[in-house]
Amino acid sequence: MIEIQDYRASERMARSIMPSWWLAVSHQVDIFARIGFPVRIESTHEVGQLIDTMQENRYARFLTEFGGLSDAELQMLVRALVQSVLFQRAHLPRRAPLVPLSTMTSALALYKKIAAVRPTIGSILEVGPGCGYLSYFLASNPLLRDYSQVEACESFYILQSMINSHLFGHRFRDFAIAAAPPDQTLRVRKDVEPPMLIDEPELPAHNCHHFPWWTLASLLDRKYDVVTSNANLSEFSSEALRDYLTIFVKAMKDDAVFVVQCTGFPGHATLEQLFDTLHEFRLAPLLCALANEIVTPSMLSNFTPTYSSLGFDRREFALNTILLVKDTHPLFYGAWERRNYRHGFAVEFEPLQAMFRADGPTRRPSREEVLALVKAELGKMGPATAP
Ligand SMILES: C[S@@+](CC[C@H](N)C(=O)[O-])C[C@H]1O[C@@H](n2cnc3c(N)ncnc32)[C@H](O)[C@@H]1O
Repeated sequence: MIEIQDYRASERMARSIMPSWWLAVSHQVDIFARIGFPVRIESTHEVGQLIDTMQENRYARFLTEFGGLSDAELQMLVRALVQSVLFQRAHLPRRAPLVPLSTMTSALALYKKIAAVRPTIGSILEVGPGCGYLSYFLASNPLLRDYSQVEACESFYILQSMINSHLFGHRFRDFAIAAAPPDQTLRVRKDVEPPMLIDEPELPAHNCHHFPWWTLASLLDRKYDVVTSNANLSEFSSEALRDYLTIFVKAMKDDAVFVVQCTGFPGHATLEQLFDTLHEFRLAPLLCALANEIVTPSMLSNFTPTYSSLGFDRREFALNTILLVKDTHPLFYGAWERRNYRHGFAVEFEPLQAMFRADGPTRRPSREEVLALVKAELGKMGPATAP
């Protein structure tokens, strides 16, 4: 697991060899800094204040979007919450663990969307994971080959790193840890045995990779089945947005899908400006479903037949949900028109059927019921220890 000092030293080293400070400015999390969010921390314990954030109070909205949870989905959610409690107990011993219901439900919603567009999971690139809770749904998934995260905010980076170390263990690789120079110690002493070393290729492959903002160029050499960037596209500086869209277009496999769950606070771009940029980068929408839209009869005529036939016109989306593809995808040319970036647009894309379909009868468990289920699971792990 990375230490804050390692992160800082590595960032300082990167800044010292950068051709211009302007490159770093692009990835400053200025909106966070302005509202007093703890962008930098001095102790790993401080990540405790970030355990349930960015998706506060949205549990009910996600349940409405899904139309409730099936038994299997509820089990997944409870399992992830139990893991989170165990993580907090192991790494944040100063505080009582909390159950991050809203943020974990948001990660489940994202996982469901990703699994619908790519049932074989494969490789996923996520920019700005916030609390980083998609890891709870991917770490034990045998179909996962590579989950790569990118983050520019130190405090979130440290939290994500702690969670990834906890969940992925030896399969997690953190690129903010600068490689040490080769060992050059003199071997004159006879009483020190030569070390028995294992070389990197002899170790199991990593399947989770964590990239800080100063390593972005290395992503241009990687390929992904799914890329995702949530609640941040409109928050990125325009340079950062262009950096990421350049990376996405290069790093998406020919048939990859770019999944967006929430376009973010319009701090640096309005939704229409964001749509202009997505169009400019030749990312075509397969689905554009906006949250908080009150559907009037006149709007219905703007909806594509596919959108209505899937029942999306009767669905309340918790957050703006947009799926995009690049020009190597077979559906690109039917979709890449500026007017298609609008609420109510969908093309004939088979995974859309699965995206909001539950795998059985659904219901809406209350917050109290979920808490009771989490406690019951924890109880099965054995009696509490005596104080
Ligand atoms: C509003 S939060 C959303 C977190 C999470 N994706 C969610 O949906 O809950 C925005 C995320 O984007 C990250 N972010 C902002 N600017 C970034 C940049 N230039 N590069 C990488 N991540 C960035 C933030 O640090 C944070 O993790």
